[in-house]
Amino acid sequence: MISVTSPLQGKRIVLGVTGGVAAFKACFLARELQRQGATVQVVMTEAATHFIGPASFQALTGQPVYVDQWDARVPNNMAHIDLSRGADLILIAPASADIMAKLAQGLAPDLLTTLCLARECPLALAPAMNRQMWAHPATQRNAAQLQKDGVLLLGPGDGEQACGETGDGRMWEPEDIVEALQSYFTPKSLAGKRTLITAGPTFEPIDPVRGITNHSSGKMGFALAQACARAGAKVTLIAGPVSLPTPAGALRIDVMSAQQMNDAVHAVLDESSARFDLFIAVAAVADWGVANPSIEKIKKSSADDNGPSLQFKQNPDILASVAKRSDHPFCVGFAAESESLAANAHAKRARKGIPLLVANYGPQTFGRDDNELLVVDDLGQEKHLARASKTLLARQLVELIAQAMNRC
Ligand code: C5P
Repeated sequence: MISVTSPLQGKRIVLGVTGGVAAFKACFLARELQRQGATVQVVMTEAATHFIGPASFQALTGQPVYVDQWDARVPNNMAHIDLSRGADLILIAPASADIMAKLAQGLAPDLLTTLCLARECPLALAPAMNRQMWAHPATQRNAAQLQKDGVLLLGPGDGEQACGETGDGRMWEPEDIVEALQSYFTPKSLAGKRTLITAGPTFEPIDPVRGITNHSSGKMGFALAQACARAGAKVTLIAGPVSLPTPAGALRIDVMSAQQMNDAVHAVLDESSARFDLFIAVAAVADWGVANPSIEKIKKSSADDNGPSLQFKQNPDILASVAKRSDHPFCVGFAAESESLAANAHAKRARKGIPLLVANYGPQTFGRDDNELLVVDDLGQEKHLARASKTLLARQLVELIAQAMNRC
């Protein structure tokens, strides 16, 4: 059984829903937050109930939904205290211009606003309104005041609005709100660290249409880029040919061949105004490239054609060359070993001249969403990371890497 991977696991979130067309999106949000392992308690304003019924949220969350400050279900009549105590976060999505104005002023005319005033936990708002309402100086003043008060503003985004107009004021999509909250709840163990990551396979051309590549989905490298970004790192991700979305907050450079990946890595390090702190080489770099790739497509000349003879040249070892730089960042390597895992991992770490190496238990990891890892370091220590999703393993690796960097 793979463990749940999200930083939202076990978090208690009060989801406030205010009156706006985007209220229907709060249903998807409630469901996604729960999928990430959070408990969701919905509190609606009276206006919100005109857009969507409390029964929908009750069915989705399995919790009673509160609207009225004088709800007879709360024996002590203190719903505003009971609901906010023990919460890890109050998230209001959609947050109307009206609730922003009330919160900025400290007004508490209903249950949701009273709850916010009486809270001991952080408050996040996902604004949603017509573009003119968002641009109005009063709303802008309120947004600035709320941020000054430590309220987290998630959005708004721009785009087509329910009223038919286009502009700023659209509520962030539920998955973007969830991503922002995952970052929010991740410890900032790599705060401000400039981090360079290689991921995916490389593709070595034979001619314009054919090539040689390695098995690699890029999932581990992309999960690490995401985990590093959530942990506060400034991430540059150099990716071979993969079809994965760019993790939020990462700057992505796409390459094809090992030589291109090598050139991109050194160019990023050379051109950076400040030294990079961390380099994680996750890419499955092809060891050899074709020495003389054909500029034209090689023709199949006859039916009994045995195929062209290819000459190979050794590709640069990107990781070893970065580790040798005088301005080298803290270097982490990966290895897929099919036998004598620990012994080979220690030997490879030493050979590459790096402080940390992460070994996969064999090639059966390719393309899968889960994995099992062994981490070895320059003190001769070994740490086994039990089978889990690559997302969770990436978070665990970030913690190990941060600890190792701190002792250097
Ligand atoms: O030597 P080997 O390919 O087993 O080493 C694996 C590690 O070295 C991985 O971290 C991989 O990203 C990196 N590597 C590299 N350049 C190469 C070959 C491997 O950066 N040409």
